[in-house]
Amino acid sequence: ATAATFAATHPALAAKPLTIGFSQVGAESEWRTANTTSIKDAAKKAGVIMKFADAQQRQENQVKAIRSFIAQRVDIIAFSPVVESGWDTVLREAKAAKIPVILTDRGVKVADPSLYVTLLGSDFVEEGRRAARWLVEHAKKNPGRAYNIVELQGTVGSAPAIDRKAGFAEVIKGEPRLKMLRSQTGDFTRTKGKEVMEAFLKSEGKNITVLYAHNDDMAIGAIQAIEEAGIKPGKDILVISIDGVRGAFEAMLQGKLNVTVECNPLLGPQLMQAALAVKAGKPVPKRIVVNEGVFPAEVAAKEFPNRRY
Ligand code: AHR
Repeated sequence: ATAATFAATHPALAAKPLTIGFSQVGAESEWRTANTTSIKDAAKKAGVIMKFADAQQRQENQVKAIRSFIAQRVDIIAFSPVVESGWDTVLREAKAAKIPVILTDRGVKVADPSLYVTLLGSDFVEEGRRAARWLVEHAKKNPGRAYNIVELQGTVGSAPAIDRKAGFAEVIKGEPRLKMLRSQTGDFTRTKGKEVMEAFLKSEGKNITVLYAHNDDMAIGAIQAIEEAGIKPGKDILVISIDGVRGAFEAMLQGKLNVTVECNPLLGPQLMQAALAVKAGKPVPKRIVVNEGVFPAEVAAKEFPNRRY
């Protein structure tokens, strides 16, 4: 067959493979590890060449990685921004180089929305609302109980920390029985979650009856602090978190975590689909939201075998 007929019958093989430069937040949580695996696996499966950079939770590392992707002239830049603001300059550089940018997982605040093609990820405000709604229902069923909440926030300035805080606050605002005692960042890690919970326990003691953690890893770290203080997590202190990773299901099965709100990290296949569409010049929606559920401890045993991360 001539080159022309080969190309006609094997368009995928004949075309130059797509190259994506991907800048990941880091490896701060179980969620993030699952997200990285999903993206790398999906790239391999789609025949996409992936240049991967781990930013170790630092924006300056992401800016450097994006500039290096521009210099290497990748076809598409994708990244999960550590924080929301401070992206205008580097994204303008990508636009000037005519390299489309896809955001995954976390959003950015930029003056010109045309600096990125699409944001593929969860609705973090809704996740915060879901966490609070579970608590409101719990309070309805327990009229004599006190609801004094401490909150472990995610990374300062990150979209999930800002939005999960806002969604939760919006729902508890109308509920005078639910009181927020303290709120501080635990940077989405187990170590920090434990450390900050220890400080909360030191200052508030047995007054604390609810912990709301912006992710499962911080909740798991905090559970350790609670147990070390001789208090029962899941009982004396209700524990609510977000992600739905295996570690959270294990904690629920042990009666130490009360509910996890799902945040799906398996974004790889949808990212590849969007990237290939962008490359082919097809229209892509500005926002692609992932479908997610809520898993209270009562369904943990049934759901556990179905979990993929
Ligand atoms: O951006 C998603 C959040 O980042 C996850 O909830 C958290 O676990 C991760 O570190």
